[in-house]
Amino acid sequence: MIYQTQNSFPPGFLWGASTSAYQVEGAWDSGGKGLSVVDMLCHPKGKADFTVASNHYQQMETDVALFAELGLKAYRFSIAWSRVIPDGDGEVNPEGLDFYNRLVDTLLTHGIEPVVTLYHFDLPWALEEKGGWLNRQTINAFVNYADVLFNTLGDRVRYWLTINEQNTMILHPGAIGTPPGHELPDKKSLYQQSHHMLLAQALVAHRCHELLPKAKIGPAINTTSMYAATCRPEDAIAAHNWETLRCWSFLDVAVHGCYNALALRYLQDRGYAPETEPDDSEILTAGRPDFVAINYYSTATIGASRGDGSDVIPRAGDQQIMLGEAGVYRPEENPYTAKTPYGWVIDPIGLRLTLRKVAERYHLPVMITENGIGAPDTLAPDGTIDDGYRIDYLRKHIEQIQLALADGVNVIGYFPWSAIDVVSTHQGYAKRYGFIYVNRDEEALYDLRRIPKRSFAWYQQVIVSNGQQLQDTR
Ligand code: BG6
Repeated sequence: MIYQTQNSFPPGFLWGASTSAYQVEGAWDSGGKGLSVVDMLCHPKGKADFTVASNHYQQMETDVALFAELGLKAYRFSIAWSRVIPDGDGEVNPEGLDFYNRLVDTLLTHGIEPVVTLYHFDLPWALEEKGGWLNRQTINAFVNYADVLFNTLGDRVRYWLTINEQNTMILHPGAIGTPPGHELPDKKSLYQQSHHMLLAQALVAHRCHELLPKAKIGPAINTTSMYAATCRPEDAIAAHNWETLRCWSFLDVAVHGCYNALALRYLQDRGYAPETEPDDSEILTAGRPDFVAINYYSTATIGASRGDGSDVIPRAGDQQIMLGEAGVYRPEENPYTAKTPYGWVIDPIGLRLTLRKVAERYHLPVMITENGIGAPDTLAPDGTIDDGYRIDYLRKHIEQIQLALADGVNVIGYFPWSAIDVVSTHQGYAKRYGFIYVNRDEEALYDLRRIPKRSFAWYQQVIVSNGQQLQDTR
């Protein structure tokens, strides 16, 4: 659709940026923090160092001052469950809670709206040792943990996200890493874990509404659109298969409170359907979200499964690189889109399409809680970081958000990944996303100095102009 008039970003639009606890905080074993699964991971490449990460735990006040200088209206961060409750389901660690209290207060002092993710991949290790999400008790532990946060931070935090990218954890468990000696769970176990996460999420949403009637809570799923590789009807069905299984099957339960019919048939047919208890559907319907959050990086192109054993691509995939599944779909190349240095498809128009689909499907406000380009940014001898490619990537995505607003999608906020450099889940510090450079690399910590990149000044101007000034003026 080409419009004759252009919509502008609404007043109060949440111009933000994101991070997650394990990727930014460091202080992995201090301040009373317990271990999380991330602390125990064998990273696929054996490189990523999450122990110091970006040292944000130590430099929080100066980081938030920089976020304020950037002009952020909102900041999305996650809380490390094992910092607040070291063994996941027992005593609260006051020092851990104090850190997040101070973070929220510091943000508010600078006029920045906190947007809190309750859980971003870093399950407490003590819970993992008791079976993790396969153990139904983890649901209660999550509800208790959320209760602590609602009761402590709920007077100041208005936006909550339940679970970050449940679909990544279930569909690409090895991509995040595996603890030593641990096998990757089989699919039946993974879908059982997923069911428990869905119940936990619904219970927490319900609890949030009970305790904090003015707060808003939603799920954050890695959501995208799948293109059919050709106009062959078989390809269209395959694209729909995989879009449903990868994205909608998770969001449909969160929003509608029941399983997507196609996804359920797939689970039953393959013998992956979870064991349920009599109250489960009541629980799922009782905890509906107030908005849907999506993390969007790429689209994917899909062809029909050939069923000849060649559908699965033999390589380590990640959350954006589709692997293929016999009888379901086969990944194909898109000749019309570019890729990042890490093979992720760059497709700003795909964001507009995905936003339309989310809005049509759920009739809820949409928050974009991640979007960005990972790159091996370099610090030039003159002390600058020229990340023009990031400006280009973000600008084109923001243009498409503006068009989605014109399409009638109620986009309420945009949170590029990431506010400051963080440890990439897959490529450690070699791959950066932030507006603020952190002076360390994979091998050495140097001085961990913060240096605004060229994209920092550009995003400043985007925010000040409420999305009207998108050009890179330098
Ligand atoms: C998202 C995750 O899927 O992708 C983030 O929520 C992650 O935690 C981001 O960092 C980028 O992925 P990567 O592997 O480049 O760090």
